[in-house]
Amino acid sequence: MADDFCLCIRDTIITKAPKKPSLVLRMIVLTFAMLCGLYICSICLKQISTRTNFGLLNVQVIQRPCEPPIIETWEKLYVHYPQPKTFSRDECKCNPVRYFAILSTQRSGSGWFETLLNSHINVSSNGEIFSVKVRRTNISTIVETLDKIYNLDWLTSASKNECTAAVGLKWMLNQGLMQHHEEIVEYFNTKGVSLIFLFRRNLLRRMISILANSYDQNAKPLNGTHKSHVHSSHEAEILASYKPTIDTTLLIPNLRQVEEMTAKALEYFKSTQHIILYYEDIIKNSTKLKDVQDFLRVPQRDLKSQQVKIHKGSLSQHVENWDDIQRALNGTPYESFLHSDYNM
Ligand SMILES: *[C@@H]1O[C@H](CO)[C@@H](O)[C@H](O)[C@H]1NC(C)=O
Ligand SMILES: *[C@@H]1O[C@H](CO)[C@@H](O)[C@H](O)[C@H]1NC(C)=O
Ligand SMILES: *[C@@H]1O[C@H](CO)[C@@H](O)[C@H](O)[C@H]1NC(C)=O
Ligand SMILES: *[C@@H]1O[C@H](CO)[C@@H](O)[C@H](O)[C@H]1NC(C)=O
Repeated sequence: MADDFCLCIRDTIITKAPKKPSLVLRMIVLTFAMLCGLYICSICLKQISTRTNFGLLNVQVIQRPCEPPIIETWEKLYVHYPQPKTFSRDECKCNPVRYFAILSTQRSGSGWFETLLNSHINVSSNGEIFSVKVRRTNISTIVETLDKIYNLDWLTSASKNECTAAVGLKWMLNQGLMQHHEEIVEYFNTKGVSLIFLFRRNLLRRMISILANSYDQNAKPLNGTHKSHVHSSHEAEILASYKPTIDTTLLIPNLRQVEEMTAKALEYFKSTQHIILYYEDIIKNSTKLKDVQDFLRVPQRDLKSQQVKIHKGSLSQHVENWDDIQRALNGTPYESFLHSDYNM
């Protein structure tokens, strides 16, 4: 038994003795493997921690991109930081953006007014977007279009891209605005859109402008192209040489209808943040353009337009049947339209 035991031990001694170096080797390999494992683990941990750091940063960028300007609480609704899909706002991504819409009627100076606004480096007014019927098919297409404009993703010649501080459009009352007024007011009031009403005081002048403009659509005396707005006094003279004849039986009902429509629009949209402007006042009083820039909270600048007024001076020279018109309007609330004039 003891022998066996001894043999056994000897056996193990004998058999183990020559393997001693391999045990050391094994220890070395094991230590090496452990070190490697530790090293890999530490790299993994580092990557995980940096990744979570990035994750946190991303979340912060999305939730709190910019230091909001110091403004009163009610105004917060009107300050936006759009993140356009089509480009990056780069260094101006923390400049707040205001949303606006110019609500007007045809031939009220809104085209001219819009060129003035667009001469401001930080203002993008994208024109009469809803003159295209499919965009005002129903409230969903209207909202979709507005969302795109206000997200700065509507690219027109007016787009100023990254440093836009006020973005909007020109919208005529008869382009779905009155029809869908309830939903549109709700949109304006929830999205924080400011409105600029632009009307014309002298509705008789407006009527003459409409008649002349629709005549031009067919006659096209300017080298066969229809022009609603002109850039030279030569072109203005050619367009003003056409003198419309006004149907005096329809004159008063027509003026009254326009008056009622604008009053209705003001009533529908009265709950919005808005400013009311008149074309004639902007011509006469340079403070009005300052008021608009204050209203949009953009820095004050000198605004310029290349457009030239078509019908200048006294109205009597711009219509065929002036005497009839005078007779129709004398003694009515619209009599002043015959006289009021301005220089430009
Ligand atoms: C709105 O009009 C668009 C385009 O014509 C149409 O695809 C859509 O189904 C309409 N939506 C509703 C709610 O009527
Ligand atoms: C206006 O635009 C200029 C030039 O792109 C830019 O430097 C400036 O920050 C903008 N101002 C505002 C108020 O966004
Ligand atoms: C018509 O075109 C010619 C040549 O392009 C130009 O010189 C002329 O001024 C144009 N006339 C008007 C009325 O615009
Ligand atoms: C010009 O407009 C401002 C406000 O926009 C007004 O305070 C001022 O009285 C006006 N000036 C004239 C001459 O009408």
